[in-house]
Amino acid sequence: MTARTGDIEKAAEALRAGGLVAFPTETVYGLGANAEDPAAVARVFQVKGRPPSHPLIVHIGGAEHLGDWVEDVPPMARLLAEHFWPGPLTLVLRRGRRVPFEATGGLETVAVRVPGHPVALALLSAFSGGVAAPSANRFGSVSPTTANHVRAELGDAVDFVLDGGPCEVGVESTIVDATGEIPSVLRPGGVTREDLEAVLGCPLAVHSTSHVRVPGQHPSHYAPRARVILVEPEKVVAEAELAQELGRQVGVLLPPSYADAPVQAHAVVAVPGSMVAYARGLYAFLRELDQRGCDLIVASLPVEEGLGLAIANRLRRAAGPRLSE
Ligand code: TXA
Ligand code: MG
Repeated sequence: MTARTGDIEKAAEALRAGGLVAFPTETVYGLGANAEDPAAVARVFQVKGRPPSHPLIVHIGGAEHLGDWVEDVPPMARLLAEHFWPGPLTLVLRRGRRVPFEATGGLETVAVRVPGHPVALALLSAFSGGVAAPSANRFGSVSPTTANHVRAELGDAVDFVLDGGPCEVGVESTIVDATGEIPSVLRPGGVTREDLEAVLGCPLAVHSTSHVRVPGQHPSHYAPRARVILVEPEKVVAEAELAQELGRQVGVLLPPSYADAPVQAHAVVAVPGSMVAYARGLYAFLRELDQRGCDLIVASLPVEEGLGLAIANRLRRAAGPRLSE
C-alpha cells in the first residue's frame, strides 16, 4: 500500500463532492464515483466512453453492508460473500432502492463486490458509502494494472488517482449471477470456478459472454490497439514469423513451452508458466506490445482451467468475435 492517509481522505472528499477517483483493487484499477450520485455516475460513463446501458459494479467496504445495497441475499450468495470477500468476486443480486438506475444501466439487478486491496478498503471506509466503478480504462481497451496506466489513459479526466502499486491478481473479478437458486458465472475472473464449486458443493454453469448486453455490437473488449490473433501454441512462432516477413510489426506472447525458441518478430514477451503470474502480467504485456509499436499480436490460449479460464476469456475477447466466438 503506497497511498498515504492524507491521500485517502482527499480521495474520499473528492467522491463526496461528486468527483471521480481512480483507485487500486487487487484485480485492476477502478474509476470510482459515489454510487448514489447519478450525475457523478454519469461522468464515469462519459470519461470511459462507455454506453450507458452497460452496468457498473458497486464496491462496498464489507460483506456486512451487502443488505444495504440489494433487495434480497439468497443463502448461496451469502455463502459466497462470506467465503470470498474481500476478494475478486462480484455478485449480481436484486437491486436495492438506494442504487440508482444510472449505475445498473436500467437493470433491476446490481453487481456488488468487496475489493481485497488495503487502499480500496481504506477509501471505502473513509467514504463510508458505495463506490460505483468500472475498470479505469477507455471502453473496450485493456484494463489498467498500475496507477501509471490510468494516468496515461485517462489523464486529467480523473479528479484523483490513488496509487496502490501494481495489482496482484491482474484480471478482473469473477462475476456470479446469484439471483437464481443455482448461481452461474457471467464472467470468469480472479476467483476460479473450481474454488466456487468447492464452496458451493455443486457444479456451476459458465456463460462467459452473457454479461455483454448487446452481443455483436462491440467487436472486441480488453483489446490493445494491435490486432490480436489466436493460434495453436505450436503455430505461434511460425505465424508470427510469416506475418513479420509480410511486413507487419509483430508482437508475440510466447507460450511457456516455447520460451527458448528464437523468434524473428518485432517484440517478444515470454509468457510465465504459472497462471497466477500470467494473469498478473497479461494486461501489462499487451500494453507493452502496443507501446513498442506492434500492429499485430500473435498468442495462444492457455489451458482453460483455474485462472487459465479467465486469461483465455480475455484473449478471446481481445481478438474479437470474428476469430473466436
Ligand atoms: O475486478 C473488477 O471487477 C473491476 C474492479 C475495478 O472492481 N471492475 C470491472 O468493472 O471489471 P467493469 O465495469 O469493467 O466490468 C463490470 C462488468 C461489466 O461487464 C458489466 O456488464 C457487468 O460487470 N455487470 C455489472 N452489473 C451487472 C448486472 N446487474 N448484471 C450482469 N452483469 C453486470
Ligand atoms: Mg472493464
